[in-house]
Amino acid sequence: MEAKPDKTNIALIGFMGTGKSSVGRALAKRLGRKFIELDCLIEQNAGQSIPEIFQHHGEIGFRELEIQTVKVIAREENVVIACGGGVVLNKINVDRLRERGVIIYLTASPATILKRTSRDRLARPLLNVEDPIMRIKELLKFRKPLYESAADVTINTTRLNIDAVVVEIIEALKGNESFHI
Ligand code: S3P
Repeated sequence: MEAKPDKTNIALIGFMGTGKSSVGRALAKRLGRKFIELDCLIEQNAGQSIPEIFQHHGEIGFRELEIQTVKVIAREENVVIACGGGVVLNKINVDRLRERGVIIYLTASPATILKRTSRDRLARPLLNVEDPIMRIKELLKFRKPLYESAADVTINTTRLNIDAVVVEIIEALKGNESFHI
């Protein structure tokens, strides 16, 4: 018997600078779905920017807000969600996103990540350090297995533009039996 599609959300995960927000926005537009950027919601709920949250409440405080926000957002339907790069650090987030969503993991090389994040490093407290490439490599090493175990689909964005990534995601979703595109 053919499996009935039961997921209507698309959650984009991956390291900072892998294109989650720009691809998510373009993908949502293409599919006529609502786009939700998790970090923006966290900022709205907290009434503070991400760097301010890190400064006043530490990374742990930020992660708590992230968990609360994912809890609410994961209940939506027919939405495209761009997650913050550290969403996989708490497994409860992945479990919640997976209930109604297919999880797309975007990757990129450390050099590409450095280049793409260099303009707004101040907005990313974890990369606002003396040796960002070293930090990127360290964080990637720790997080890679978490991203990989969460992913339904993986796309390397290093050599792709936004539209090409969107096309690849749509192709992958057509072949995913739990998602109705
Ligand atoms: C983080 C990634 C950021 C933001 C916060 C922490 C991370 O989001 O959530 O600075 O731990 O990787 P982006 O991946 O959208 O930059």
